[in-house]
Amino acid sequence: KKPPARKGSMADVPKSLMEQIHGFEAIFHVSPDKLKAITKHFITELDKGLSKKGGNIPMIPGWVMEFPTGKETGDFLAIDLGGTNLRVVLVKLGGNRDFDTTQSKYKLPDHIRTSSSEELWSFIADCLKTFVDEQYPEGVKDPLPLGFTFSYPASQDKINMGVLQRWTKGFDIEGVEGHDVVPMLQEQLEKRKIPINVVALINDTTGTLVASMYTDPQTRMGVIFGTGVNGAYYDVVSDIEKLEGRLPADIPSDSPMAINCEYGSFDNEHYILPRTKYDVIVDEQSPRPGQQTFEKMTSGYYLGELLRLALVDVYEQGLAFEGQDMTKLKKPYIMDTSYPARIEDDPFENLEDTYDIFKNDLGVETTAPERKLIRRLCELIGTRAARLSVCGIAAICQKRGYETAHIAADGSVFNRYPGFKVRAAEALRDIYDWKPAAPQDYPIVIVAAEDGSGAGAAIIAALTEKRLAAGKS
Ligand code: GLC
Repeated sequence: KKPPARKGSMADVPKSLMEQIHGFEAIFHVSPDKLKAITKHFITELDKGLSKKGGNIPMIPGWVMEFPTGKETGDFLAIDLGGTNLRVVLVKLGGNRDFDTTQSKYKLPDHIRTSSSEELWSFIADCLKTFVDEQYPEGVKDPLPLGFTFSYPASQDKINMGVLQRWTKGFDIEGVEGHDVVPMLQEQLEKRKIPINVVALINDTTGTLVASMYTDPQTRMGVIFGTGVNGAYYDVVSDIEKLEGRLPADIPSDSPMAINCEYGSFDNEHYILPRTKYDVIVDEQSPRPGQQTFEKMTSGYYLGELLRLALVDVYEQGLAFEGQDMTKLKKPYIMDTSYPARIEDDPFENLEDTYDIFKNDLGVETTAPERKLIRRLCELIGTRAARLSVCGIAAICQKRGYETAHIAADGSVFNRYPGFKVRAAEALRDIYDWKPAAPQDYPIVIVAAEDGSGAGAAIIAALTEKRLAAGKS
């Protein structure tokens, strides 16, 4: 959906506020040339990540070494530990590029982001128990195979393990970083006597890639624009230098290999991204400063916070919100991405919803010119996120030489942020110098993904079982 047009006149905006708006436009705008330069540097960094020496982008081999055919069948459990919810899904693969899912969503308790490892795995095991009891009232005969979508950087030497490198997206749970998460979950399952085998651990991007490829063979990448930002694609084993010496002997050098890029960490060295002072503050005040630079400028976890910081700055300069109680607005992370999203959805003429949001949720009474500034800021932050985030897509496509492709996308920002899809398509056009066209007519099209976290994990579990049954490693 396109954001409502900016029809309103800016005539009532005082000069000082107008100057501030122009200042924001200058720092948040990313020109086509800048996008091209970022993409070029991105390719270098992706390559570095695949080298023995490594780089800032982890480029994690996901040990998915075949393409789905669409003919995979069977019943699988899948769980998806995302930023906000735990989803538990029963997936029935139909074998004809089709599948059925039954799912339950469990909201992660607020305190869990900063709780203990024990609490996290117990919570997940309890949810799984509830789900299995509901779905199998007569009990379970053979252990159920489970695909675990774990959407954080986890190093893998095989598919059914994953050592968490570090938490992202504001998570900070003690005792998990540096450990294999599969045995931790398995232990809690065994304690509760739930007959489940974790057969595959996958990233949400890899799940999105595989699930979408199962239904659409033109898929070349799975990407998430959500609480975090990341992408996955298939590379070829012989082009992944850092796999040398780590590959089982029966894997041919021309075998495909899914790579979870973890490109949210792009530009941690601060070489190319146009960071504003608000980006610097977001980073410094996060639990992991210096990490996920790209993600902190583009993903849903941070967009509302960037907006808040910019507004507090305007207030502190004495340019707006005079005499208002700023207590709430001064609270970090009080605005999630639904704030800029709702403000961008508000028709520009009167910005009444914006008035209500600020008055009711934040206790700030805004004037019409102030709301115009707020609205413009949301547009700038949302547009910058969309423009920057497609650099990862362009970099992978250029690196792999894809001239046409379907890019399967999922995540709250992609699905719900007004105008994101159009802005992303326009930014791709700017990088490639395509002539203006409808977004679906560009050679590289970002399409809505199949349900990645459930179906993808199930399909990968099916592919894994088939591999093992064939006696392969
Ligand atoms: C963060 C995670 C990554 C995930 C992405 C989207 O970047 O580190 O694993 O794919 O968020 O959820």
